[in-house]
Amino acid sequence: MLAYRHAFHAGNHADVLKHLVLIQVLRYLAAKGKPLRYVDTHAGAGGYKLKGGQAQQTVEYRSGIGALWSRADLPAALADYVALVQTFNRPEGEAAVTGQTPPLALYPGSPSVARMLLPAGTPMRLFETHPADVRTLQAHFGGDRAVQVLPTDGYAGLLANWPPTPRRAVVLMDPSYELPRDYGAVVATLREAVARFAQGVYIVWYPQVAKVEARELARRLTALAPAGWLHARLSVAPPQEGGFGLLGSGVFVLNPPYTLHATLAECLPYLKAQLGQHAGADFLLEHKAD
Ligand SMILES: C[S@@+](CC[C@H](N)C(=O)[O-])C[C@H]1O[C@@H](n2cnc3c(N)ncnc32)[C@H](O)[C@@H]1O
Repeated sequence: MLAYRHAFHAGNHADVLKHLVLIQVLRYLAAKGKPLRYVDTHAGAGGYKLKGGQAQQTVEYRSGIGALWSRADLPAALADYVALVQTFNRPEGEAAVTGQTPPLALYPGSPSVARMLLPAGTPMRLFETHPADVRTLQAHFGGDRAVQVLPTDGYAGLLANWPPTPRRAVVLMDPSYELPRDYGAVVATLREAVARFAQGVYIVWYPQVAKVEARELARRLTALAPAGWLHARLSVAPPQEGGFGLLGSGVFVLNPPYTLHATLAECLPYLKAQLGQHAGADFLLEHKAD
């Protein structure tokens, strides 16, 4: 069993960037009102407690979602993201009351973000291999017949049921990259997935670390997306001695909504200013339109 637990990192700068992009993609597609399928190849636990256990050992969320939580000057898409996390922190059914921000105690994983945005009954396939996270996912989603929690490998699981029915789908591929083979598996799986279903929207997260595989991943993915792609990277932390550490992260989207570039062009400078941990904090935004 792998050691990675997302609870240590929930709500950090990388989750902010990834979930901001996920929300924008899902809102755009859900607004079309047509049937859609959601696949999370590396789902995590679905939700995280920030006030205890693993999250308190690292307190990474404080310099991620925590740095945005009470700000009044957020660009619209970031205000939308923070409002969604605030809803996750309210007791079920309690409406938002203007001017009252709930305490930040919980953070939604990507499956919860998707379920909050997609119409009830939208088929969701959630792959996760860590037994403890599988149990938490099942507890979160067990009663929802549209949601399948699959305790198996997400790369093979995606392709085992591809192309999807209906023929509209969003895939989030968010490995921990604990194994060097993850970089190659992301590219190989997406190559096959796009060959079978070129119209899908595929979102890939990757870490900005001092590894050639990480540096080259986005370039390798551009070759898979002749119809259009977007690449956003947010670098927040200074390089550490010996080249270790997570400097930031990137998100690559194949077939992005045409609105995403302008939205991120507004949000990334703000995120650099609020989440940057040193003077060299930076961002990159590039795309190829359809
Ligand atoms: C970065 S976390 C996912 C976070 C989640 N997508 C979110 O945004 O809230 C990566 C997860 O992938 C799981 N994992 C690792 N290898 C896997 C595999 N081959 N198939 C499915 N899940 C895997 C890990 O246990 C971990 O929970």
